[in-house]
Amino acid sequence: MKVSVVGSGTMGRGIGQVFAQAGHQVKLIDINKEVLGKAKENIKESLARLEKKKALTESLDVIMERIEYSSDIADVKGSQFIIEAVFERIDIKQEALENICKSASPDAIIGTNTSSISINTLAKFIEGKERFIGTHFFNPVPVMKLVEIITSERTSKEVIEKTEKVMIEIGKDPVFSKDFPGFISNRILMPLIREAIAVYEQGIASAADIDKSFRLGMAHPMGPLELADFVGLDVCYDVLEVLYRDYGEPRFKPPITLKNMVTAGKLGRKSGEGFYNYR
Ligand code: CAA
Repeated sequence: MKVSVVGSGTMGRGIGQVFAQAGHQVKLIDINKEVLGKAKENIKESLARLEKKKALTESLDVIMERIEYSSDIADVKGSQFIIEAVFERIDIKQEALENICKSASPDAIIGTNTSSISINTLAKFIEGKERFIGTHFFNPVPVMKLVEIITSERTSKEVIEKTEKVMIEIGKDPVFSKDFPGFISNRILMPLIREAIAVYEQGIASAADIDKSFRLGMAHPMGPLELADFVGLDVCYDVLEVLYRDYGEPRFKPPITLKNMVTAGKLGRKSGEGFYNYR
């Protein structure tokens, strides 16, 4: 199958990689050529890790050759499955989705990798709303088996079934969610992160001990503050804001400590500083 992924940041490049690993021809598209270059390097590194532990069924080079890199969104033309994975901002997603629709074949399925924006809202930017569906992947995409499939009021049954089949075929194990803010995972994860920040804010325990409690007490691979740094503190803040705005419940209110850190540019791993120092 021909697949296009629009947006080649952390999520987009991971999604492109797993489709290529499953034997599909992938076009990885990003308007920023520098980001595309980084995506190629990063995919190679990730595949090398998988190759080293004998988790690839083909050679790294064969998989790499299945991925074409392009800075022209019109190159989605001819793809049967297109996934938008640009920045989590509604105006940026609107532009990407409208441009995708200008060139996509009328029968192409269009998925969106959003962690918090309503699928019904994004569907407004789609021509042929029945073919639009939420496909929320998890970071690191080549490792995490989960994908949340989110349907809008207008997504067709056929598109839901096809999407499920494709996700299973690329090695993911999907769950289904209605279009409610945070879907399943972030609705539950973000209040956990929020409460961990409250425990830290109140000086009850150190970041290291909060995380250790979850690693050693609940067998989580990362504690909630490490995970927040890994996801990006700006992303956590934005998701909490959406949850708080839409549900109006204090349990989703973004903590002031989180706001201060984001404002100061402490975004977690990607900026080198968050609840921990990565420099
Ligand atoms: N590509 C390929 N393989 C990778 C990889 C990558 N990018 N990153 C890690 N791996 C592999 C490693 O090769 C290693 O494999 P083996 O165990 O078979 O040797 C395995 O994953 C573990 O990696 P490491 O040993 O380097 O490090 P680790 O044990 O600390 O694990 C981790 C790293 C997989 C990230 C682990 O800490 C983890 O699972 N953390 C939780 C991640 C999580 O919860 N992600 C979801 C975030 S929420 C989200 O994404 C949605 C949202 O909307 C916010």
